Amino acid sequence: MPDHLPGHLPGRLRELFLDAGYTVDGVRERLGDVAATALAREETVPALRATRDGDPLGALIRLWWLGVPVEAPGRLPVDELAAAGLVTVDGGLVTSTVHLQPWETGGYVVSDRKVRPGDPALREDHVVGAGGASANLAQLVSRRPAGRALDLGTGCGVQVLHLAGRAERIVATDVNPRALRMARLSWALSGVDGVEAREGSLFDPVAGERFDLVVSNPPFVISPRGRFTYRESGFEADGFCRDLVRLAPRFLSPGGTCQLLANWLHVGGEDWRDRVGGWLAGTGCDGWVVQRDVQDPAEYAELWLRDAAEQGTPRYRELYDDWLGWFESMNVTGIGFGWITLHDSGSLDPVVRVEELGQRVELPVGEYVDEVLAAIGATHRLTDEELLGARLAVAGDVMEERVGTPGAEDPSRIVLRQTRGLRRGARVGTVEAALAGVCDGDYPLEPLLAAIAELTGESFDDLRVKAPEGLRPLLAEGFFHISQG
Ligand SMILES: C[S@@+](CC[C@H](N)C(=O)[O-])C[C@H]1O[C@@H](n2cnc3c(N)ncnc32)[C@H](O)[C@@H]1O
Repeated sequence: MPDHLPGHLPGRLRELFLDAGYTVDGVRERLGDVAATALAREETVPALRATRDGDPLGALIRLWWLGVPVEAPGRLPVDELAAAGLVTVDGGLVTSTVHLQPWETGGYVVSDRKVRPGDPALREDHVVGAGGASANLAQLVSRRPAGRALDLGTGCGVQVLHLAGRAERIVATDVNPRALRMARLSWALSGVDGVEAREGSLFDPVAGERFDLVVSNPPFVISPRGRFTYRESGFEADGFCRDLVRLAPRFLSPGGTCQLLANWLHVGGEDWRDRVGGWLAGTGCDGWVVQRDVQDPAEYAELWLRDAAEQGTPRYRELYDDWLGWFESMNVTGIGFGWITLHDSGSLDPVVRVEELGQRVELPVGEYVDEVLAAIGATHRLTDEELLGARLAVAGDVMEERVGTPGAEDPSRIVLRQTRGLRRGARVGTVEAALAGVCDGDYPLEPLLAAIAELTGESFDDLRVKAPEGLRPLLAEGFFHISQG
């Protein structure tokens, strides 16, 4: 694996790829929906059928993505690629030694070849390609411009492709030197310059430095032993993600943000919210933890054994049994997957929100994640008196759903539902529903409550006490915001 390609080669390859249509759209169009969707499931047969004509685009897809030997497409600089160790040549057929695919940023990502059932076992320092988790983090990351950004555990370098153009300086680290070599190739092929790649574990390579943005798709897989660097850290259970969260604030500039994907254990007799919330307690940062999915121990072990193409191998049962036995010894009932965001708000009264969001959300979350954090922080630090004096406006995307028995005077359930962003729903009482109907940022809350009290016959004093309690979660969740006008 070369450290660098000869200076002219990345540009020449990129040009060749673009000319042939080896881009995200070009590949999708060429494969069609069925083969593209099958490929996303790591099933290559439909894609092989769709690329059997031997035309330049088909050959590039077969060579770099599907990993099969091809007759070199006309302009491919085979000798230079072979000298760089990126392909081997045998009897007129060229085979790639890496996986090289276009990415949604318009760049290219280089990684180890994917393993599929029947392939030789993965090497311990396997460098994983960009996939669903990479895209998940990229979509979560704030779009705010950043001065200095850090990508911890850069792997194939994909997060840097997303940060390029948004951050002035980028440092990317990884404990695996092969990963850094692949990442450099990805950046060169994508025309991204000036990234500092540093080898080392956790924050060791950036000791004493601070960043406006830290992102990490870490080796979050929780397994009995660290077998593969790309997904397991060798730390005990979910200790790597815990340490990442606990250490991150020391590396954030004032106002800085850290965003990562994580896995955490659900342990019998313990609330997962306390476990993960505990990681953030004492960091001094505002925090937002979102659980997007939970798997039971068997599903989890199967997923990751399948990921390493170990299903059907002689060791499958032994590895599966070992994994389950280890979970059992720790009383593990499930494994959560989700997002963690830390924000150094500078407040002496930081807040951490831990929640579960199972619904489809509007992507990219990074477009509005700063607003989500701001709403959580501001609501927490607002006194009831300040809230009563604030001019609230219902968010523009909120709809109201009323459900009730036909003919009944009053609904049995009123739900406010966001049609954009996180698409949350909240069951509300009649007072909050009435406020949603009248809050347009023109009047402070208190006179509106007085009007509602008069209309409904409720005591104004009671409403003054009850309404802030009911509104606080709705403000934190973005159903209402405080009008600045
Ligand atoms: C899941 S991959 C993420 C790759 C890439 N950033 C992405 O978003 O697809 C995790 C990366 O963390 C690296 N890693 C493993 N242990 C690490 C450690 N102790 N410190 C830093 N990086 C580590 C692995 O080598 C791997 O490249």
